Amino acid sequence: MKDEQCVRFLQWALPQLHMRWPGFCKVRKQVCKRVDARMRNLRLAGIDEYEAYLQDHADEWVELDALCRITISRFYRDQGVFVTLQQRVLPALAQQALERGDTRLRVWSAGCGSGEEPYTLAVLWATELQSKFPRLSIDIVATDADPNMMRRAGDACYKFGSLKNMPESWLNRAFELERDNYCLKPEYKRCVQLLEQDIRQERPGRRFDLVLCRNLVFTYFDEALQLEHLKRIVNAMHDGASLVIGIHENLPEGAEGLSVWFDEQRIYRKNNDVVDPQGA
Ligand SMILES: C[S@@+](CC[C@H](N)C(=O)[O-])C[C@H]1O[C@@H](n2cnc3c(N)ncnc32)[C@H](O)[C@@H]1O
Repeated sequence: MKDEQCVRFLQWALPQLHMRWPGFCKVRKQVCKRVDARMRNLRLAGIDEYEAYLQDHADEWVELDALCRITISRFYRDQGVFVTLQQRVLPALAQQALERGDTRLRVWSAGCGSGEEPYTLAVLWATELQSKFPRLSIDIVATDADPNMMRRAGDACYKFGSLKNMPESWLNRAFELERDNYCLKPEYKRCVQLLEQDIRQERPGRRFDLVLCRNLVFTYFDEALQLEHLKRIVNAMHDGASLVIGIHENLPEGAEGLSVWFDEQRIYRKNNDVVDPQGA
């Protein structure tokens, strides 16, 4: 399929999935390739036939939805975010959790890819902060809708390319070289619980001190869906907890209950007076 055919198709199909075309514009090739493969599987001659097929087969929208998952990630993505988390955000949240009488700092990595984001945090905590907060352990729930991502996160073995931005001392300490893969040592995996969850349908049933929802909801979902999920995320946060979104993302119009904490890094903090009328 030609690029312009794919663009036209995505501009037609994405709004019906409550997704936004601008989020996909730069990364569309990943989706176009998958749609091409899907059409071959279905033995359809071209994109017009696939469009007609979608109109006749409601189930196919579920297939297409899965083809639209953009899975790009890497360790220590957007270094400034992790530096701010290490130096400013996590120490403040840790202090807050201790004052609340908690022994665990609870983190949710939503749309965690193949583990790059939650494992970066696990290594950061173990190497830089654990000794400063000996009475607190970190507990990270990492969710993703894609079963392949979950499987790879479970394996926790990576090519050097996805780790190359990590501080070298962290890399040497936390990973073992197995053939040409860098595999995370088990002691760094233990604090991360992996759950296959579609954020539109379910989320972990607890409250968090820190939520990372980067390069998913606020890039790919349409505005109405963004606002709906933002409310749910805020409800899943303790007062004073922090939300981190992608550095190229913005909160949707009408966002409530959060204040900017570190603007450049897109780090927000939940206000103390947020009341959840539905108790959702
Ligand atoms: C672009 S990656 C971002 C990964 C990581 N958060 C980061 O910023 O590097 C988006 C991830 O969200 C996952 N995803 C897509 N749609 C999802 C959904 N509805 N629910 C949960 N995860 C989803 C994809 O499988 C993918 O792993």
